[in-house]
Amino acid sequence: MFKKTSLILSVIIFISLTTMQFCHHKPEDALTPSRPSGAEEGEELSGGATTIFDKSMNAFGFAAANLSQADKNKFSLGNSVFKTSWVAAPSSTTGVDGLGPLFNARSCSGCHKLDGRGLPPANPGDDLGGLLFRLSVAGEDAHGGPLGDPQYGGQLSNHGIYAGATTTATAEGNVTVTYITTTGKYKDGTSYELRTPVYTFTDLGYGPLSAGIMYSPRLAQQLPGLGLLEAISSTDILALADITDANGDGISGKPNYVWNYETNTTDLGRFGWKANQPTLSQQAAGAASGDMGITTRLFTEENLTGDEITDYGSWVNGGIPEMVNNDLDELIYYCQTLAVPARRNWTDDQVLRGKELFTQAKCSSCHTPYFVTGTHPISALSNQKIRPYTDLLLHDMGSDLADGRPDYLATGNEWRTPPLWGLGLIKTVSGGRFLLHDGRARTLEEAIIWHGGEGNFSKNAFINMNAADRAALLNFLESL
Ligand code: HEC
Ligand code: HEC
Repeated sequence: MFKKTSLILSVIIFISLTTMQFCHHKPEDALTPSRPSGAEEGEELSGGATTIFDKSMNAFGFAAANLSQADKNKFSLGNSVFKTSWVAAPSSTTGVDGLGPLFNARSCSGCHKLDGRGLPPANPGDDLGGLLFRLSVAGEDAHGGPLGDPQYGGQLSNHGIYAGATTTATAEGNVTVTYITTTGKYKDGTSYELRTPVYTFTDLGYGPLSAGIMYSPRLAQQLPGLGLLEAISSTDILALADITDANGDGISGKPNYVWNYETNTTDLGRFGWKANQPTLSQQAAGAASGDMGITTRLFTEENLTGDEITDYGSWVNGGIPEMVNNDLDELIYYCQTLAVPARRNWTDDQVLRGKELFTQAKCSSCHTPYFVTGTHPISALSNQKIRPYTDLLLHDMGSDLADGRPDYLATGNEWRTPPLWGLGLIKTVSGGRFLLHDGRARTLEEAIIWHGGEGNFSKNAFINMNAADRAALLNFLESL
């Protein structure tokens, strides 16, 4: 009798297990039979209905899942513009000439490889790759933005084209990156190591930098989900701002307002490490101009300043504009529709414990867990419940992280909260994971310990955690 019951039970268990095994029409996580308490409905869908399921090195390069096939084709066209390696004009390949005369990289994907995060130079003297340096002197430009160096402009171009004996442009210079290592201890006595970058400008091609030059190192960011961030209504972002810290929680949150060159108005800043770009169209056109020397309908002038205008201003260009409107439109569409990959291990006990700690340590006061997007011209991005873990606002992160270079309303101490979705996949996609605006942090722990200023409470909460809680918090971050 007893045996029979247990046999029947085993058969039932066997059947339910096999049914689970063979029902894999949906990705694993979506099938989790019962959600443990603490896990929210749909929490794994970081980008709402746009979310894709992939955790390979290509995880950042998929089109939003809810685009039509025709729209996915447009995305693919944008992908080829993104990967186009531009050459100096004139060239027989007319659609892709016009590089430089001065530039940082030949393609968008040269810095955002596989749509991922850039890597800072591994050794002093290596090419800067996805790390670039913004430059400015005291004062403001006509629109309240940073005032570029009169000779070097707003960004150091570390390459010049070589298109023959009479058409060789001198690079503006280079930067050698070295690090000073320091150590500290968690409350439980475990030690950690931090590295502070030291920058030395070398090979300056046009004389010394201005006295009082200010510079800001910026590492290329990963690109998934940006269209969703563009789709958040500014009302929802501004509702989180608390410039004077009226609620007394030690965290303010300040919107940046920047110039929109398409509408000729001031607009809420959303993109870049200091929220210094209002839209993805301006970000993309700005990158074409500033990073590659490619003109567009939005930035029609070559990226030349000071003597460079006399030296190279009359050189043959790659057409007016060098990137034709159709290509620019596809490129912008691509940036807007790159999908966010789904969470992994989101129902694990340790991950859920980490999520709790994330709130307790007030990480969520800046890394806002979710929004519902408003309306966007791309309807697939509209009305999505998304989990970006950013408030898109500026925060004073203390003097250790400061670049000392204002960018519109952002002071030298302020940075935009970066989105944390996709964080756990950066290493897989980029072959390394270097965090914070300059890539100084080699691990998630280091990134957290660098938090100062408004982030002090969180930093200290982390340092005071025991090893198990620290591991849980980090595991939660890895699951994003
Ligand atoms: C030289 C390296 C480099 C190249 C080339 C480059 N980028 Fe970037 N990209 C960056 C850096 C650095 C940032 C952050 C800029 C800042 O904070 O001011 C960035 C930021 C962005 C962002 C905003 C990301 C965010 O989270 O706010 C987008 C979108 C983007 N780039 C798209 C492009 C496109 C499109 C191209 C090609 C036209 C391109 N980039 C070329 C380095 C590069
Ligand atoms: C006061 C707002 C604030 C709080 C609170 C805060 N952060 Fe941040 N976080 C930021 C900002 C701003 C940056 C970017 C700083 C920089 O690049 O120099 C950042 C960067 C990060 C990064 C690196 C992201 C990247 O893309 O490079 C991680 C990881 C991170 N925070 C996790 C946390 C965790 C975990 C906590 C809680 C223990 C926390 N943060 C609390 C604002 C905050």
